[in-house]
Amino acid sequence: MAADLIRQSLERLAERRGDPTPQVYARLFAARPEAEALFVGDRTWAARGEMLAQAFEALLDLAEGGDQGARLIAIERVNHEGLGVPPEVFADFFPVLADVVREGLGEGWTAEVAAAWGELTERAVTLAQG
Ligand code: HEM
Repeated sequence: MAADLIRQSLERLAERRGDPTPQVYARLFAARPEAEALFVGDRTWAARGEMLAQAFEALLDLAEGGDQGARLIAIERVNHEGLGVPPEVFADFFPVLADVVREGLGEGWTAEVAAAWGELTERAVTLAQG
């Protein structure tokens, strides 16, 4: 089941790489340099950590067929416009997460896992763009 593949890949990422937070934001800021300045107030990385945790939870919920993930993405799309993050930039976070998982999994990134992440990322991006 796709949800199991997603959950297992996140567990495997944590086992192999520990906390993925630094990689996620390094990749995000490489793709969207203008986003870095938005986090200047986040000196302890608490907001970045929480944002990442909630994004992963939203993805897991989407994969499991719940409605909380979709709801969170819709709410945060609007909140983020208020923070100066337009929906197309907001949506970019999801492919960044998939890339970090791909990189972290190495040989564990099988065709099946890639397909599960591809489908999930596409759904999340569609929701995030509104
Ligand atoms: C490239 C895309 C994104 C950018 C640039 C961005 C930017 C930000 C910024 C600047 C903050 C505030 C940090 C602070 O309080 O200092 C924030 C907070 C937050 N973001 Fe994002 N965001 C993005 C995508 C997302 C996505 C996709 C989600 C989840 C669906 C999300 C969920 C959150 C949450 C829950 C918080 C509040 C964290 C807290 O408790 O402080 N963000 N984001």
